[in-house]
Amino acid sequence: MQEAATPSLVLDFAVIAENYRQFEEHFPSGLVYYAVKANSNPDILRLVVNRGGGLEIASLPELDKALEAGADGEHIICSNPIKSPMFLQRMQAADVFAVVVDSTHEVEKVAQHMPGAGVYVRLAVDNSGAVMPLDGKFGVDADLALELCDMARELGLNPIGLSFHVGSQCLSVANFVKAIAACGDAWKAAVARGHHFYFLDIGGGFPAGHYHDHTIPTIGAIGAAVERALVEHIPTTPDLMMVMEPGRGLSGEAGRLVASVTGLARRGENDWAYLDVGVFNGLMETFEGFPPVIYVLGHDVASRPVKAYTIAGPSCDSNDVVARNYLLPELRINDRLAFIDVGAYTNEYAVPFNGFPIPEVIALNTECIEAEADESELEVA
Ligand SMILES: Cc1ncc(COP(=O)(O)O)c(C=O)c1O
Repeated sequence: MQEAATPSLVLDFAVIAENYRQFEEHFPSGLVYYAVKANSNPDILRLVVNRGGGLEIASLPELDKALEAGADGEHIICSNPIKSPMFLQRMQAADVFAVVVDSTHEVEKVAQHMPGAGVYVRLAVDNSGAVMPLDGKFGVDADLALELCDMARELGLNPIGLSFHVGSQCLSVANFVKAIAACGDAWKAAVARGHHFYFLDIGGGFPAGHYHDHTIPTIGAIGAAVERALVEHIPTTPDLMMVMEPGRGLSGEAGRLVASVTGLARRGENDWAYLDVGVFNGLMETFEGFPPVIYVLGHDVASRPVKAYTIAGPSCDSNDVVARNYLLPELRINDRLAFIDVGAYTNEYAVPFNGFPIPEVIALNTECIEAEADESELEVA
């Protein structure tokens, strides 16, 4: 059998379906609104929509993708705190359920271009447990959140609740709980000011990798803690709507990026291995501090001596290095490597800099895109 060309991103839809099922099982109070930015592959969006889930969008092109996947406005939210007037107008035309705000300017802009819209306020929460913190750029404290709600109401908007993001690849279950406790306090204060809150959006941050690394919190562990925290901190309301926006938590583990070794060199004390994929054409997250997990494929690799490599991408840019001092069986030209748990933020970030192509998607278990497939018979790799 001829081997597939590299680089390729092997996307296993059975893994995405299984992760979706786990969110449903472990968050009985919650609804998945998949963060389209993580991987906007149309079949992933259809898988979510086919199961009754929603989509979280950040831009006009993502709105178009969500609508093309069959989502109706009720099942779309926008948690990007900064939105263009045209995007707001198009979201209004599509009856998008609600949008986030975290500044007075944005409240004014939403009131002007999406009059009467449902809005929720993003609280700033502790991101210290995350591999990629997102705080600083977005979010407000509780006092400003309440002022924004009052202002939104005065301008004819409908403030419905709160959101937060604990940071991407959040390894601290406690930070989800702390954030919900902070929302509980702001929620009670909002109710005291006459707002009817029923919407809590606990954002993304669900880490990928727990199938291979048992120190990473599972969906089940986070679900149990979140469900307890909801009962403890969020005032009871019969119409409570809790949503989650997993990005990598849904699609990360489904992706394996297969690359080839195209060059080897000894430079000073270092052994370099050059691949046909790097920071620009697929592995941007390694540049942002995500340590890659790499396997060498092939039957004889166990018998080779282990060496420390600097692993670089194919472009002429000296920043195009995906790992340093990475221990691997001694490499040969044309060896194939697999980067695991990279179903999110790989192709979505990639550009064909220097002419090096972005990975071609190879889809596995596509029958899982439809909700009817019997997932119990499919093995998760
Ligand atoms: C508003 C919002 N929601 C959800 C996500 C998805 O995050 P993650 O992939 O960590 O689940 C992000 C990621 O940046 C985001 O900014």
